[in-house]
Formats: sequence, structure tokens, C-alpha cells
Amino acid sequence: MPQIKRFGVSLEKELSEKFEALMVRKGYKNRSEAIRDLIRGDLVKKEWARGREVAGVVTLVYDHHKRELVSHLTDIQHEFHHLIISTQHIHLDHDNCLEVIITKGKPDKVQALAERLRSTKGVKYGLLNMATTGKGLG
Ligand code: NI
Repeated sequence: MPQIKRFGVSLEKELSEKFEALMVRKGYKNRSEAIRDLIRGDLVKKEWARGREVAGVVTLVYDHHKRELVSHLTDIQHEFHHLIISTQHIHLDHDNCLEVIITKGKPDKVQALAERLRSTKGVKYGLLNMATTGKGLG
């Protein structure tokens, strides 16, 4: 069991109300868990900024009928194969595909992969979810 350290937090009324609203919106049951997640979120941002190994998920939506788009996306993924742990492709409907690419590596490389994929002509939607390997979060 990790050691628990307790501390009091003083907030201005307005900030406190915003925090309570955030808790409700995000479904937190108690303040401690909400504060823990805010701290972890900040630590993950720092992992990305400091160049430590990170995990990331690239989500793409595209029309597979677009000429050469699929082979272009595949070429890019082969180029960055050392970063890619797993991919999943879902046929959303007759035209649209959703692809999820799970990555692990240095932040600049993961971001470069995500940018290359996202900026490929014909990609309707692309998002990089900046996650973490979890190692630096205790
Ligand atoms: Ni498909």
C-alpha cells in the first residue's frame, strides 16, 4: 500500500464552486480523486514536454474509397512501425473507417506519426490522445 499524505486545501469561493462543478461534470465521487487526477494530468503533460517515453493513441476516421488513401496510411505506419504496438480498424459503415493506432515511444516521434497520419489527404478526423506509460505516476 502506498503511503497516504493528507493536506488541507483552501480555495476562493468562486474557484471552489468551479471545482465542485468540474467534479459533477466528470463524475468524481470525492475531492481527493478529482485532485489526484488533476495532478496526474499535469504530470503526463510534463512527460510529453520532457521527452520521456510515452504512450499515445491516434484515432483516424476516413473514407476508404478515397484514391490511394489507405495505401498512404499503411506506408506511414510501416515507416513508424517501431512505435506502433497495435492497430484496430473498424468499418463504421459502407464508406467510413475508424482506425485506432496505439503507440509507445518518444513524444516527438509519436507526435510526428500522428501529424503525418492526420494530415494525409482524405482523413476526415484525426486525434492524438496523449497518454502515459504510467511509470512516472506512482
Ligand atoms: Ni474499413
